[in-house]
Amino acid sequence: MTGTILITGGTGYIGSFTSLELLIAGYNVIIVDNLYNSSEEVLNRIQLICGRKPVFYNVDVTDQQALDAVFKKHPEIDSVIHFAALKAVGESTQKPVEYYRINVGGAVALLGAMQANGVKSIVFSSSATVYGDATLHEGMIPIPEHCPIGPTNPYGRTKMMAEMIIEDHVEAHPGWNAALLRYFNPAGAHPSGIMGEDPLGDPYNLLPLLGQVAVGRREKLMVYGTDYGSHDGTAIRDYIHVIDLAKGHIAALAKLKKDNPGCRAWNLGTGKGSTVFDMIKAFSAAVGRDLKYETAERRKGDVLDLTAVPKRANEELGWKAEITLEQACVDLWRWVSNNPQGYRQPPPQELLDA
Ligand code: NAD
Ligand code: WQD
Repeated sequence: MTGTILITGGTGYIGSFTSLELLIAGYNVIIVDNLYNSSEEVLNRIQLICGRKPVFYNVDVTDQQALDAVFKKHPEIDSVIHFAALKAVGESTQKPVEYYRINVGGAVALLGAMQANGVKSIVFSSSATVYGDATLHEGMIPIPEHCPIGPTNPYGRTKMMAEMIIEDHVEAHPGWNAALLRYFNPAGAHPSGIMGEDPLGDPYNLLPLLGQVAVGRREKLMVYGTDYGSHDGTAIRDYIHVIDLAKGHIAALAKLKKDNPGCRAWNLGTGKGSTVFDMIKAFSAAVGRDLKYETAERRKGDVLDLTAVPKRANEELGWKAEITLEQACVDLWRWVSNNPQGYRQPPPQELLDA
């Protein structure tokens, strides 16, 4: 199955890998992104890897008129994948209105432009964060999709609201289909070492921070909380390779087209939980030396365990995460060690020759 897909936020971390996998699978890709947290250079890296380059427009996703112009220029667009959003949990507690404006306002503008142009299929980047603390509900760890929703921060609430708006829109308009993909913790980079995560500001996620410790940009990692009820006291997450995650979007697009399921949520995770110490160990093994860390108090808002039950996606989408955590760590190390300045420097020649 192929077609032309509009990708909002397609120059970002997950969006760039999804664009790459779509091009490899034979789809045409049109990206809209305002480069708030990404760089246009990623388009060249995509082309280096697969020989094709996405069409790109610098567009703000809250600008419905600009989105409308892209749909008008490309009547061949048949589906949308909506990644564009702000995603820092801590920042969302300081600038909640900005998060609602872009994450909720962006979804509303996009649905309006799609509706006006007869495009009725959307895959939405949701997050495991919509579940909040699943330990509050008996029998909900690992987390299935029917776990009650209860985000604990403004960022999570923007995702919950966007899910609800999409669901209501699909309900109101027969012929529409939507996949709400609840990602667990994306990890890794491209095995070539020329594409990976390159946030423009300071990262706050565990793996990019570990990467910075490994390349010497940061002295040590702070381990937030050693008194959780896990095997080593640190919190548990479900780390999924970004390429597996990207492929989940292609499976979801195919499902929407083939079965007209209406609006449905799918967890995208591996089903396997790892603690912070497990991750330090796995990444240290990939790097080949111990990485410095220090223990600290729990981070506000963190929960013990966010591990997916990925059964619904496995069965209904025919998709399964396949790449190991060890491989994700090796790929991440290849990316950060070869590109300490991310996309702001050309890729090393030996990687291009490989
Ligand atoms: P990212 O920041 O790398 O990518 C988001 C992209 O959206 C960036 O390229 C950014 O420039 C763009 N963008 C931001 N505001 C925009 C606007 N107003 N108009 C147009 N473009 C805009 O983040 P990511 O990790 O690739 O996340 C992609 C999506 O997945 C987001 O919706 C995020 O909330 C969701 N998500 C991410 C994670 C994670 O841990 N990375 C987990 C679950 C869900
Ligand atoms: C993972 C674990 C930390 C940094 C967040 C969002 C979620 C999703 C993914 C978008 C936790 C610990 C971290 C550090 C640490 N994003 N940690 N030291 O919090 O699971 O999820 O990103 O949707 O919505 O909430 O990811 O990578 O920040 O943390 O000990 O310096 O690593 O406490 O247990 P998290 P994370």
